[in-house]
Amino acid sequence: MSRALLAAAFALLPLPALAAGYAEEGDVIAHQWCAECHVVDDAQTSADAAAPSFQAIAKKYGEDGMGALAAFLADPHPVMPDMSLTRQEIRDLTAYISSLRAKSGG
Ligand code: HEC
Repeated sequence: MSRALLAAAFALLPLPALAAGYAEEGDVIAHQWCAECHVVDDAQTSADAAAPSFQAIAKKYGEDGMGALAAFLADPHPVMPDMSLTRQEIRDLTAYISSLRAKSGG
C-alpha cells in the first residue's frame, strides 16, 4: 500500500473498538484539564457557568461535526487558555465527547 493510501485508510479510523479506547483516554484528559471550567460528565456538579457542558458540545457538533470540533480544539481558544493539545489528545477528546452524544441518544 502506498503512503497516501495508508494515510487515507488511517483517516477512515476510528473503528468502533479503537474509538472506545480513545474515548477512555479522552475521559481522563477531560477530567484533568477541562473539568475546571466544563461539566465533562453527568456526575460533575460544578463548573464555570460561561463554559458549555461537554454534553451540550456533543449535541451542538453532532454526529458529522467531530471534524469541526477537532479543528476548534487545534486552535487556541478565545476564552480559555491555549492548551496546546496534541493531535492524539484532540482525537481522544473528540472520541470522548462523541461518546457522550451517543449516550444521550441524540
Ligand atoms: C479556563 C476555563 C476553561 C478550560 C480549562 C477549558 N475551557 Fe473550553 N470553554 C471555556 C469557555 C468559557 C467556553 C465558552 C466560550 C467560548 O465558546 O469561547 C468554552 C468553550 C468550549 C467549547 C465550545 C466551542 C463551541 O463551538 O461552542 C469546546 C469544544 C471546549 N471549550 C472544549 C474544551 C476542552 C476539550 C477543554 C480541555 C482540554 C477545555 N475546553 C478547557 C472555558 C474553558
